[in-house]
Amino acid sequence: MSFAYHNPVRLRFGEGVLDEIGALVAGRSYLLVTHPDAPMRPWRDRVTSLAGEPLAVVDTIEPNPSLALLRRVCDGLDGVDPEVIVALGGGSVIDSAKFLAAGHCRFAPAHDHLLHGAPIAAPALPLIAIPTTAGTGSDLTKWATIWDPEGNRKLSLNRDDLYPEAVLVDPLLAATLPWAMTLASGLDALSHALESLWNVNANPVSRTHAVQAAHDILAALPRLQRDLSDREARSLMSLGATRAGLAFSNTQTALAHNISYPLTLEYGVTHGIACSFCLPQVMQAALGVDADCDAALAASLGGTNLRDALSRLGVPADAAAFGVGPDDWRRIVTDAFAGQRGRNFIGSIGRFPGMG
Ligand SMILES: NC(=O)c1ccc[n+]([C@@H]2O[C@H](COP(=O)([O-])OP(=O)(O)OC[C@H]3O[C@@H](n4cnc5c(N)ncnc54)[C@H](O)[C@@H]3O)[C@@H](O)[C@H]2O)c1
Ligand SMILES: [Fe+2]
Repeated sequence: MSFAYHNPVRLRFGEGVLDEIGALVAGRSYLLVTHPDAPMRPWRDRVTSLAGEPLAVVDTIEPNPSLALLRRVCDGLDGVDPEVIVALGGGSVIDSAKFLAAGHCRFAPAHDHLLHGAPIAAPALPLIAIPTTAGTGSDLTKWATIWDPEGNRKLSLNRDDLYPEAVLVDPLLAATLPWAMTLASGLDALSHALESLWNVNANPVSRTHAVQAAHDILAALPRLQRDLSDREARSLMSLGATRAGLAFSNTQTALAHNISYPLTLEYGVTHGIACSFCLPQVMQAALGVDADCDAALAASLGGTNLRDALSRLGVPADAAAFGVGPDDWRRIVTDAFAGQRGRNFIGSIGRFPGMG
């Protein structure tokens, strides 16, 4: 057996770890990036009271950050040159902060790198991530998803210097998430865990994180469905998302994520739902291909029927529920197998239900 595992992010986890932000910023000048929503206000105030006044604040980050949004943000940061960026928010905020870190708050270098692979002279600015959703794992990866609705495509920044310097996972921050976002972000994390298992890049370390992640998430979500104020379940959900992040940070995602992108771009389906409703179908195509993967999937689910579990959580079982017709579905699945993330998938298209 031979493999490598690498994740350089300094991780602190637990209720109240937000209070360590002052020590992490350590007197450096910083740019605070966050969402405009009211639930961010108390956390944002806590950050500034502990880390000092930021050099500037970007609080206009919307879900699925687009090139157009990031251009406007950079235009508003003309001349701002922080020593570190603090990202307080969900994956959209953390990914936007990575774009800003790569280009030192200037649009052209990050854009030209993203679209044309143009080299960037300086290493990215350091980034401290404070996730407020329990899902994307972007706080533990070196990737940022940037959306280009005009070009009908999803773009991906991928640089070793975009691993955050540190992450504070404080489950209390996700307590204000409504059920729909709790579910979507939680299922995004479940998808990361399973996608790292049916993946040509899987290794024993990523597998261990993924199996534990799936356990945590499958236990936490039904509890949160019953009671959003269940603090223990929030912690379990944040732990599951963190473990899933540690798993897929070393494997990337696979087929379900490639299926998800057109569903988000063309049908407006939230990322976490778009990459999870099809997990039972993707699993069917994966089972029987690799004994280690089969064993890990069985351990992940621990006897739970994935289709039934998703149905109880209110997730539709097939794409027709989002308005996707049969021809379009075949096109989406075929393209997903051909794309880069699809090629991470261990199964072949003939094994996918309805595609044989
Ligand atoms: N870089 C990666 O590795 C990676 C992995 C998976 C997903 N992503 C990307 O992340 C994005 C999705 O991120 P997300 O699921 O975290 O959601 P999000 O960041 O898009 O946030 C969704 C909504 O929830 C609100 N919100 C966030 N935290 C809240 C809280 N604590 N209380 C109340 N409201 C809150 C936000 O303001 C926003 O309106 C997508 O663009 C996806 O492509 C990136
Ligand atoms: Fe995802």
